[in-house]
Amino acid sequence: MRPVGLKCEHMTDPVGIDADPIRLTWGLQAEGRCRRQTAYQIMVADDPERLSRGEGNLWDSDKIASDNTLLIPYEGRPLSSRQRCWWQVRVWDESDAHSEFSDTAFWEMGLLEPSDWHAQWIGFQNPPIDATAFEEEWFRAYYQDNDFGAVPPFHMRKPFAIDRPVQRATVYATARGVYHAFVNGRRLGDAELQPGWTDYRVRIEYQTFDVTDFLTVGENVIAGLVGEGWYSGRLGGEEKHPTGHYGPRPSFLAQLHVEFEDGSEQIIATDSSWRLSFGAIIYSDLHMGERYDARRELGAWHSPCFDANAWWPVGVETHDDAVLCGRTTHPIMVTEDVPARSVSRARSGAWIVDLGQNMAGRVRLRVRGREAQEIRLRHGEMLDADGSLYTENLGSARAEDTYICSGIGEEVWEPTFTIHGFRYVEVMGVGKEPSLEMVTGRVMHSAMPPTGSFECSSELLNTLHRNIIWGQRGNFVSIPTDCPNRNERLGWTGDIQVFVHTAAYTMDVASFLTKWMVDLTDAQSDAGVFPDVAPLTPFIEPAFSKGSPAWGDAGVIVPWSIYRRYGDTGIVARHFEAMENWMAFIRSNNPDHLRRNATFRDYSDWLNLDARVDKELLATAYWAWCAVLMAEMAEAIGRENRAVSYRRLFDSIKNAFIDAYVFDDGRLKSGTQTAYLLALDFDLLPEDLRPVAARHLVADIESRQGHLSTGFLGVRHLCRVLTDSGHNDLAYRLALEETYPSWGYSIRQGATTIWERWDGWTEHEGFQNAAMNSFNHYCFGSIGEWLYGHVAGIQEASPGFRKILIKPYPGPGVDRCRAEYHAHVGRIAAEWSNSNGEFHLNVEVPPNTTATVHLPVRRDAVVLESGGPAERSEGVTEIDRRDGVVSIEVGSGRFEFEVR
Ligand code: BGC
Repeated sequence: MRPVGLKCEHMTDPVGIDADPIRLTWGLQAEGRCRRQTAYQIMVADDPERLSRGEGNLWDSDKIASDNTLLIPYEGRPLSSRQRCWWQVRVWDESDAHSEFSDTAFWEMGLLEPSDWHAQWIGFQNPPIDATAFEEEWFRAYYQDNDFGAVPPFHMRKPFAIDRPVQRATVYATARGVYHAFVNGRRLGDAELQPGWTDYRVRIEYQTFDVTDFLTVGENVIAGLVGEGWYSGRLGGEEKHPTGHYGPRPSFLAQLHVEFEDGSEQIIATDSSWRLSFGAIIYSDLHMGERYDARRELGAWHSPCFDANAWWPVGVETHDDAVLCGRTTHPIMVTEDVPARSVSRARSGAWIVDLGQNMAGRVRLRVRGREAQEIRLRHGEMLDADGSLYTENLGSARAEDTYICSGIGEEVWEPTFTIHGFRYVEVMGVGKEPSLEMVTGRVMHSAMPPTGSFECSSELLNTLHRNIIWGQRGNFVSIPTDCPNRNERLGWTGDIQVFVHTAAYTMDVASFLTKWMVDLTDAQSDAGVFPDVAPLTPFIEPAFSKGSPAWGDAGVIVPWSIYRRYGDTGIVARHFEAMENWMAFIRSNNPDHLRRNATFRDYSDWLNLDARVDKELLATAYWAWCAVLMAEMAEAIGRENRAVSYRRLFDSIKNAFIDAYVFDDGRLKSGTQTAYLLALDFDLLPEDLRPVAARHLVADIESRQGHLSTGFLGVRHLCRVLTDSGHNDLAYRLALEETYPSWGYSIRQGATTIWERWDGWTEHEGFQNAAMNSFNHYCFGSIGEWLYGHVAGIQEASPGFRKILIKPYPGPGVDRCRAEYHAHVGRIAAEWSNSNGEFHLNVEVPPNTTATVHLPVRRDAVVLESGGPAERSEGVTEIDRRDGVVSIEVGSGRFEFEVR
């Protein structure tokens, strides 16, 4: 048995973290069956050599009898700022034999004390002396092409001398804005749009870079390039206050710690001695795009050889109350290049490049142009009927990048501080037809490790799965957004609580959503209200800071999902009080257990198809479900009393729900698909009425010739509830449907992502209302949970997948399916085929876990495993047989079931 996949705080070898406690996780690999961990030993040292000699001078846990591998708190010597900790683990198996020590992993602490910070915020101050010259020389250049008040990015630099050999050097940097940092001309790291979006009034993340190899004895330079980003640029569709949400212009904060071989130390920090200039980027805004004038390039401005005498002194900006905090999650990165597929010409004559994939990111442009030739790239998700770029749905987000050529040789450029949601690029100013090589899509998102794969015999479902992943990539960009395209891009709480269950199959979202939960609690009001969007800004606060049912409820649902998928009780403990406050807020406003008051903007089953569910019914159903989740979480953190009280709350809400909304014949008030789905999934019906209610649901779908009517909220439950309530064939029919409205309809129209609306574009009506019609919105992708959990059949039966449920539901139209999920405990896989009356199922269950396998077969079926009678197979125990399912318990290992 081997410990693998070592993680610290859900990340691999994180640097600059300040979590307390620090928690360590590993997965296990082993041959054979029924392998279990019975003990572990963790060793942590301050130097890898030490560790390899078997010395854990920071912590040697000794042999600890435990089967746990998830999130074990570090209990060694207290750690100080900037300390790097190397660690490894070995494990004992079921026969008390121990493994080798794992490969070495590490984590590094950030700056833990406010007094560790010597840096000052620096930025642009109005030029002190020769203001007239400044205006002529710079100001006009930077504002004449900038009709929306953007601030040009600032280049800032500081030369310094090093006179002794360096042992270790580290940069800590961040921005109120977005930045790149450099040392001696080299960019630090390859993350984009750092430090990402938080409510900068409350907290700002800093990044940590090892620059030991970047320094030389002699003259050195540290530098920063800072743009507006979420801090002062456009965001959130607030047309009254489009910019300057957190402040009027960006600023930079950095400090370099140099430790010399002789033991001495030097700190170089941002302060008034740095100098500043503008450069080739005229402006760069997340929504509007970037304008870049290659003739204004500063050359090696971040290198020692550069003469910056003409640069101005920076302005020192005030500190505010925001807490500087260490790394919490994966940064935004360019994760893939998408080559251009084809070039077409619109009736207007405009050249359109098709990347074949709707994505979030930017374009890399490759041209040979004349000096001053201006090339404009407009981005859009769709084409109009005449082949021109469709941009009406982007609102005020101009999504246009302009490159002004230097005229020297081949020029390769991509914008620095902007991101667009697009598939098509209109290229203007090139004179002739652009070549495919001219434009490459650069895909950007928070770089979460992929954890899921899904493939089956239906190409439609495979495409649907792919579209779901692209929807997630496009919208997990520092925070979970609604869309990457129009002038909105906000952290809508309702959207993520619906999609999280799918998101956590396809990618490792543990740290990403742990970070966002902090954003959400930062945005919670004193009254306990979780808002509609997080992070908040001063300008969007009044509109969206009130919590709507199913939106504000994300504050309970998201931590619960992370707890379930990753076995993380830390997120529960950290936010328990915030969740309690939200629950108390709802309760104090709704003493009779129907959620009728304080529902604020109450979006209800948003974007349903003319099937309006009773708003109070929906709100009450969500409240009931939150009570269940609260009870489960309270129990998980040892708050038994609270668990009891939430269970009681659930009972009271359920009774009130039945009295108010459930009729004796099993019908529900307002009777929409969503009403039945929520009542069934959240257990809000008397037992005997469940099958009847399910039949009403089926009847509604049939009355629409097998079509759905659900909006954002109902859709998540649709196929799952149908399958779970004995209507699996209908679930498959909906999932495979290709006529309007359905997932398949959008795919037939060429969708490569999930659309915001079922009718985003239809043959009869064309485009929906441009004011709100994104083609990259992940909500309707919440069916992904059914693909993994029901079609392939991989579900967690206990938190963190310590117990696994493998319960595939083959259905009409799909005769084989294969999926895998990389849980933190290890790799889980399920593969089935179902043809000619034979059902085959191969499963892989990671060491230290057990799985209950449900074979969807007749009661009298003959079950073989690896070719022999299942009952004689190692690690296989049949536990139940009833009509339609044979249930089997297995230990870890690979199993091949065959049923006749
Ligand atoms: C957003 C949604 C969000 C909704 C709430 C829209 O503008 O794009 O995704 O949940 O508003 O009504």
